[in-house]
Amino acid sequence: MASETKAAKEESVKDFKKSLETNPDYDPNIVVETQNLTKVYRDFWGRQKVRALKALDMEIRKGEIFGLLGPNGSGKSTTIKLLLGLLFPTTGRALVFGQDATEVTKNERIGYLPEESYLYKFLTAEETLDFYGRLFDMPGSVRRQRVAELIEKVGLTWAKRRQLKEYSKGMTRRIGLAQALVNDPDLILLDEPTSGLDPIGTREMKDMIIELRDQGKTVVMCSHLLADVQDVCDRIAILYQGELKELGRVDNLLQVSDQTEIRTKDLPAEAEEEIRQVLVKHGAKDISIEQPRTTLEELFLNIVRESEERPGHRMIDQREESAKQ
Ligand SMILES: Nc1ncnc2c1ncn2[C@@H]1O[C@H](COP(=O)(O)OP(=O)(O)OP(=O)(O)O)[C@@H](O)[C@H]1O
Ligand SMILES: [Mg+2]
Repeated sequence: MASETKAAKEESVKDFKKSLETNPDYDPNIVVETQNLTKVYRDFWGRQKVRALKALDMEIRKGEIFGLLGPNGSGKSTTIKLLLGLLFPTTGRALVFGQDATEVTKNERIGYLPEESYLYKFLTAEETLDFYGRLFDMPGSVRRQRVAELIEKVGLTWAKRRQLKEYSKGMTRRIGLAQALVNDPDLILLDEPTSGLDPIGTREMKDMIIELRDQGKTVVMCSHLLADVQDVCDRIAILYQGELKELGRVDNLLQVSDQTEIRTKDLPAEAEEEIRQVLVKHGAKDISIEQPRTTLEELFLNIVRESEERPGHRMIDQREESAKQ
C-alpha cells in the first residue's frame, strides 16, 4: 500500500516536472506570479461576505525575501493560503513555479509556517519533525540526520525531548520553522515568523531567513513588525483592505532623496566646524551634524551579551552617571 502511494506520488512529481518543460511561458526566475487574483469569502448561503483580496498582480523572484505588509484583515494570510492552494481564487489566478497554485504537487517544494500553530501537542520536537519527514517519504537515516540538523538550527536541542504542550510561544515558533524546512523547500511562506519571539529569538529568526535567501531559496513573509521587515526584506508589497497600495524595493521606498548623510568615526571638533562652514558657503539648508542613535534592538542585544559575559555586573549605574554629566 505504502509503495503504491509512493509510486503514485513519484509519478505525479514526474508529470509536474514534465508540464514545466512543456510550459513555454515558464520563467524559472519568477517563483510566484499572481494575475488579477481576487478572493471573496462567502457565507453559508453563498452570499458575498468579505472581499479579502482585490485583483492582485505581482511577481516574486527567485532568491528574494519578499514582505507582505498591511493592517489586520488586509488580505496577507489570504494571499499566502491562495499560493498554497488551501483556498481557491474567486477570479484571477496564482502561479507558483509556473504552475497553477491549486496544483498540489508543487507543494512538495514549498515550506509553510502558518499564523497559528497547528502542531500536535503531545509529540516532542524530534517526533514532530520525524512525522513530517515520513509524510515526505524521507528514508529513516536521512530523516534522522535532517531532524537533528533542523533542531540544532532553530536552537531547540536542549528541549528536543519535551512535548510541545510545554513549549513557550517562542519555542513553538521555532519548531514551526523547523517543520516548514523539513522537505528542504525552494519556496518558504512564513506568516508572522517573529510573532511571540523575544528580541534574541527575533534576531536569530531574521538571520535564519537571510541564510535561506543566501542559499538561493525564495522567502515570502508577512509581518506587522515593520523593523523586522525593513531589516530582512528585499522587496515589499503593502496591502490595504485587500488592495495593493505599494510594491517595490525596500531601500528605494525608504530613501529620502533630498537629504545627504555623511558618516565618519571620531571626527575632531575643528573638522566639524570647518564642514559646517563649507556647507553654509554652499547654501545648504537645515544642517544637522549629530551622533547617530543605535536601535533599541541593538541596545537590548548588547545588554544581554554583556550580561552573559559578566554575570552580576550592572550597567545601569554607569549609564545614569554619564547621563548626569
Ligand atoms: N475563512 C474566512 N471566512 C470569512 N472571512 C474571512 C475568512 N478568513 C479571512 N476572512 C476575512 O478576510 C479579510 C482578510 O483576512 P486575512 O486573514 O487575509 O488578513 P491578514 O492581512 O492576514 O490579517 P492579520 O494581520 O490580522 O493576520 C478579513 O476581513 C477577514 O475577516
Ligand atoms: Mg494574517
